[in-house]
Amino acid sequence: MTYDLNSQAYKRDPGPTLARLVAAGPVVRVRVPIVGEVAFATTYAAVEALLKDEALFSTDIVNGRNRRIAALLRFMPRNVRVMTGNMLQKDGAEHRRLRKVVDGSFRRAAVEAWVPRIEEIADRLLDDWIISADGDFVRHVARALPLAVICEVLGLPDKDRPQFTQWMSALANAGSVWGLPRLYISLSRMTRYLMAQFAKRREAPGDDLISVLVHASEDGDSLSDDEVLAMLGLLFIAGHETTTHLISGSVLTLLQYPDELARLRVDPTMEATAIDELLRFVGAVEMTKPRYLLRDADFMGTRFRKGDAIMAHLSAANWDAEVFADPHRLDLARKPNRHVAFGGGPHFCLGAWLAKAELAVVLRRLWAKAPDVALAVPMDDLRWTRQSGIRALVTLPLTPTPHTGMKDGK
Ligand code: HEM
Repeated sequence: MTYDLNSQAYKRDPGPTLARLVAAGPVVRVRVPIVGEVAFATTYAAVEALLKDEALFSTDIVNGRNRRIAALLRFMPRNVRVMTGNMLQKDGAEHRRLRKVVDGSFRRAAVEAWVPRIEEIADRLLDDWIISADGDFVRHVARALPLAVICEVLGLPDKDRPQFTQWMSALANAGSVWGLPRLYISLSRMTRYLMAQFAKRREAPGDDLISVLVHASEDGDSLSDDEVLAMLGLLFIAGHETTTHLISGSVLTLLQYPDELARLRVDPTMEATAIDELLRFVGAVEMTKPRYLLRDADFMGTRFRKGDAIMAHLSAANWDAEVFADPHRLDLARKPNRHVAFGGGPHFCLGAWLAKAELAVVLRRLWAKAPDVALAVPMDDLRWTRQSGIRALVTLPLTPTPHTGMKDGK
């Protein structure tokens, strides 16, 4: 059976394909452009088992059988290698040591303290969007907000943010041959800049995350400069685009389901369940990084060899009718809702509370400022990126108030 996971038709309405992936599970092999054949865990039970079993699976690419990738990494310039050695690639005690340093800064209570600042930023961006000529909600709000928030959390000075963002986008878009030289130059400059920031924070610590990282000391074992650099790279990449796609996808979904939107607007106490349901339904991050088998073994009835890779298809698991009644139905009051949009096990998303807080603020402030917001183009004209693994709108043109002409059918 073939599965098309990149077309516009799939991205527009992934539900039918997700249902087929679950039915064909628990493990399904799919051809993915460039990467080749990939084994996916697609049922909820298989995804949970894959992400939680630390004894059988590793996230570290050196345990993978694809020697070409491991060799490529060895020959990468040093500053590129440093960035790839982040905690998402580490297992067991090494992973726990790194994760412990940042856990406190992303707990629910810590994130709640950020909400007033997130509201200020969101209000400013929404005001700019309302008067913008193109009305593109991705550009003016969904992309700009997570970027501004992560820079704020890290404690980057205002004046340096545009430059830092440019360097980081080279890291995020390093997938092409032409991207590599740009990546190398950007990383060299960014490393020099960040090392200077570390020196400043060592002398005069602030209450920002860079200060937390350079002063971290776990049982006398502090983080090396390389470890701090890798952590910053991970936080920036993991925390930026993911949230952009969740925000734009959620706004579109609410416009597609006006009855559910009306329920939420009448009863704001539904906010927490609504955010979880949007995470499940939108499927902004469709799959995890690969897990590599540490020995030959059976997994969910399929034989695998040491070094084989399996990925968790989170969106399929979130469509598993064994766990979610009527998974194709958007139900903003769904409870319980044990979705796996943030993954699971030891690598469960560090930024889950932050992402939820950002989405909650945008939805609240958007409908307060523009109660009649509407799509500015027909639904079929919206374009999605073809990239595997994420469900991302290229643009989302909205009008703060509907054109009366359109409403009257003129
Ligand atoms: C819609 C927003 C987001 C989604 C859907 C999302 C999803 C995920 C998923 C699925 C994973 C697990 C990957 C795996 O197991 O292979 C993950 C890990 C991670 N996420 Fe997020 N994420 C989001 C936002 C954020 C934000 C805002 C931050 C931080 C500012 C963040 C930081 C991280 C980090 C550091 C990890 C690795 C954790 C570890 O290795 O222990 N994420 N995220």
